[in-house]
Amino acid sequence: MSFNSFGHLFRFTSWGESHGPALGAVVDGCPPGLALSEKDIQPWLDRRKPGSSRFTTQRREADEVKILSGVFEGQTTGTPISLMIENTDQRSRDYSNVAQQYRPAHGDFAYDAKYGLRDYRGGGRSSARETAARVAAGAVARLVIPEVKIQGYLVELGGDKIDRQAFDEAEINNNPFFCPDKKAVERWEQIVDNARKDGNSVGAIVECVATQVAAGWGAPLYAKLDSELAAACMGINAVKGVEIGDGFDAARSTGRDNADALRPALEGHGQARFVSNHAGGVTAGIATGQPVVIRCALKPTPSILSPLPSINRDGEAVEISTKGRHDPCVGIRAVPVVEAMVALVLADQKLLHRAQTGR
Ligand SMILES: Cc1cc2nc3c(=O)[nH]c(=O)nc-3n(C[C@H](O)[C@H](O)[C@H](O)COP(=O)(O)O)c2cc1C
Repeated sequence: MSFNSFGHLFRFTSWGESHGPALGAVVDGCPPGLALSEKDIQPWLDRRKPGSSRFTTQRREADEVKILSGVFEGQTTGTPISLMIENTDQRSRDYSNVAQQYRPAHGDFAYDAKYGLRDYRGGGRSSARETAARVAAGAVARLVIPEVKIQGYLVELGGDKIDRQAFDEAEINNNPFFCPDKKAVERWEQIVDNARKDGNSVGAIVECVATQVAAGWGAPLYAKLDSELAAACMGINAVKGVEIGDGFDAARSTGRDNADALRPALEGHGQARFVSNHAGGVTAGIATGQPVVIRCALKPTPSILSPLPSINRDGEAVEISTKGRHDPCVGIRAVPVVEAMVALVLADQKLLHRAQTGR
């Protein structure tokens, strides 16, 4: 009932706050016999780490993961895997005004409304520092689905879109924006620099594609693969919209144009060949074997230097301006988080499919 756990058969619980001594995840239901060490998790955490460019928060967290349980002689044992990441770069004084006042668009007001008290340092549990735990758990999930390739990237930042004709997968890890379009990178540098100078922030859209998802994974009706993915991604801080495949554009299409026509499979290439992928790899809640395509809209960072009208805990009018080291565009560092949530859903779905069908 407290909603800190995620997944059905492959399940994890995250724990910890932004300015506590540490945070982490307990991954339960991981099959035994998978080779696992810190080295399998660290590269994914490094992708999410703050301070990696001037376009992200300048907090300096080492984000080093420790495996405390569930692994013996380099292999998962099938028992709970406990992962811990120490918090090493807190500056609680940056949040002294947030203790008594509410940042619009952040969790301050809502947390007080629900719990009556909150750890305001760094946003406490509402801080996206928690997403480090998801990325660590996601790295374990990837071991359950080694055949699946999951690639996230930004397709839009500050309202500026990539040119799909210029899409180059090799570019994604060559720039600080996870951007597949080289020319967009220069524009985005300007957009983020201008926002920061202006004491403001911008939003972004993350696209994530999972290939080699076996046809048949997923479920009908109440746990559709698309609804599981949407719930997982909507559960990421600052995500305000999720689309699968053509998403909202499907509503502007027609039956003829939106149909992914089926053709006989080419030899050695599965059971069917689709000539398009408007569905984003899922129909009737079940994977078709096509790439699973998901997009997440991330709102602009709530904590900004520009003064905003708000109230304090006594309900009095105040103006709040947030100091400290914040991401000018949270969508950038959300890319590895979206990838992790997709990995967690797909690992869970693989195990569920096997449990029901024996395949
Ligand atoms: C990777 C990532 C980093 C974030 N960094 C910040 C930040 O530096 N400052 C901030 O105010 N919000 C940041 N956020 C967003 C807040 O955590 C989020 O807006 C807040 O918890 C309120 O929740 P909601 O936006 O889902 O309604 C970040 C979000 C993500 C995904």
